[in-house]
Amino acid sequence: MVKLIGKNKLNVAIFISGRGSNLKSLINFSKKNSSPIKIILVVSNNLKAPGLNYAINNNIKNVVIKYKNKLKAEKEILKVVNRGNIKLICLAGFMKILSKNFIKNFRGKILNIHPSLLPKYKGLNTHERVIKNKEKFSGCTVHLVNNKLDSGKIILQKKIKILKKDNEISLAKKILKLEHQLYPRAILKFLSNR
Ligand code: GRF
Repeated sequence: MVKLIGKNKLNVAIFISGRGSNLKSLINFSKKNSSPIKIILVVSNNLKAPGLNYAINNNIKNVVIKYKNKLKAEKEILKVVNRGNIKLICLAGFMKILSKNFIKNFRGKILNIHPSLLPKYKGLNTHERVIKNKEKFSGCTVHLVNNKLDSGKIILQKKIKILKKDNEISLAKKILKLEHQLYPRAILKFLSNR
């Protein structure tokens, strides 16, 4: 892998919609000297996303884009992303589905984190469905974004055993912790394979 040091770090944008705990973990990762990424932009479709505070507290440019009209919203996002010379977009709890056209502009450069062992349990309410189906394992996945929901090439996964005493809430908590470790690792892997 080419080492990206200081000014040469890769410009990254993180897209969020809510809590932003993955954003927080990625900010911490980006602050390490050895990290190949620099987070220079946070995009949210939600003005009230608590995660925006991580951007504000870390002096990262943040942009809230209203999603009344998807086409317009994506046009605006594209503008800020291009202005920032962004080379990688990381979706972290971004609750909007990007259009084919947007993805085309960044093909192979958009990652997402999903709280299940894809290809199982695409979409929402994963933990609830996993518990209902009495699965023995669950986990999280970082994958490339393509035109089908939660279906792009898998970069990295982390699996855990589900205990008898686990419920939707305890599982969500455990997996979120794993996500915070997985996303930075997946970025390293992704960049080393390019
Ligand atoms: C995470 O569970 C992620 O896998 C999913 O949305 C959640 C976002 O959590 N896509 P947070 O906003 O990063 O805390």
